[in-house]
Amino acid sequence: MVDFDGGEPTLNPELIPLVRYARSAGYDRINVTTNGRLCAYEKFARSLVRSGLTTLLFSVHGHDAQSHAQQVGVAEAFEQTVQGIRYCVKHAPPGVELGMNITLTKGNHQHLEAVTQLAWGLGLRWLNIQFLTPFGRATRWIAPDTQTAADIAMGVIDRWGDRMKFQVINLPFCFMPGYERFMLGDLLKLQRHMIFVNNEDVNLGDYLAARRVKKPVCGPCPHAVFCGGFYEMDDVPEPPWLVRPEDLDRPAVEVDSRRRLNVLA
Ligand SMILES: C[S@@+](CC[C@H](N)C(=O)[O-])C[C@H]1O[C@@H](n2cnc3c(N)ncnc32)[C@H](O)[C@@H]1O
Ligand code: SF4
Repeated sequence: MVDFDGGEPTLNPELIPLVRYARSAGYDRINVTTNGRLCAYEKFARSLVRSGLTTLLFSVHGHDAQSHAQQVGVAEAFEQTVQGIRYCVKHAPPGVELGMNITLTKGNHQHLEAVTQLAWGLGLRWLNIQFLTPFGRATRWIAPDTQTAADIAMGVIDRWGDRMKFQVINLPFCFMPGYERFMLGDLLKLQRHMIFVNNEDVNLGDYLAARRVKKPVCGPCPHAVFCGGFYEMDDVPEPPWLVRPEDLDRPAVEVDSRRRLNVLA
């Protein structure tokens, strides 16, 4: 499997050729995770869903323009993403599975039901409910109360689970007893070699394991064999794979009068 994530993968003009190449190289599962905004251009949406990918996940963090914008910081994002989903649903060939990701925060976890309704209304039948992992700007300031968010997630699964596929990501199993079949632990992440634009290779499983902490309650827990413990959201470090400012200082390119490309040293 190969997963094009980011950053925002649709901003890479090579994304569609890369997906095609991955297919021809023999990958049989190819996922793209996107904010879906560029898919508001129907031609792009059509090319993307027909590029050879097998799953396409749209990140939607609110049920309406305002609550989505509060999470992503862009006023027009919601309209673009929703339009993009519509176009992708319209053009997706059979066998390409489309789904939605939501990352639960203090600001949106109360709206999980409405986001599920939105996904359903757009024709999506798969929702990933992601709990925060401690990297980037995911600090305790934006983390919801974990048990409250887990209770809301269980309620949504109870009401929608007969019609939609759910995956709960990043949450220790003890927060959702009885719902273990929906929960993805960290084990699969050991297989995830994340390659970043600066060519750094980070094993996600190793990184996350280093941020998990066992507490006394973990002692007798049957999940402890494969669960690393609780995430500590306090003092979240900057991720080691963040692109350094100097890596972004790339040569500028200008087009001269004869329309040749010049690279400025
Ligand atoms: C890192 S983004 C990259 C792909 C693309 N730009 C997007 O918006 O989907 C992939 C997914 O990870 C989620 N995500 C980002 N930071 C996270 C964190 N600290 N904890 C959990 N999920 C996170 C995003 O909400 C998104 O659904
Ligand atoms: S090992 Fe600890 S964190 Fe993991 S499920 Fe058990 S009690 Fe929860």
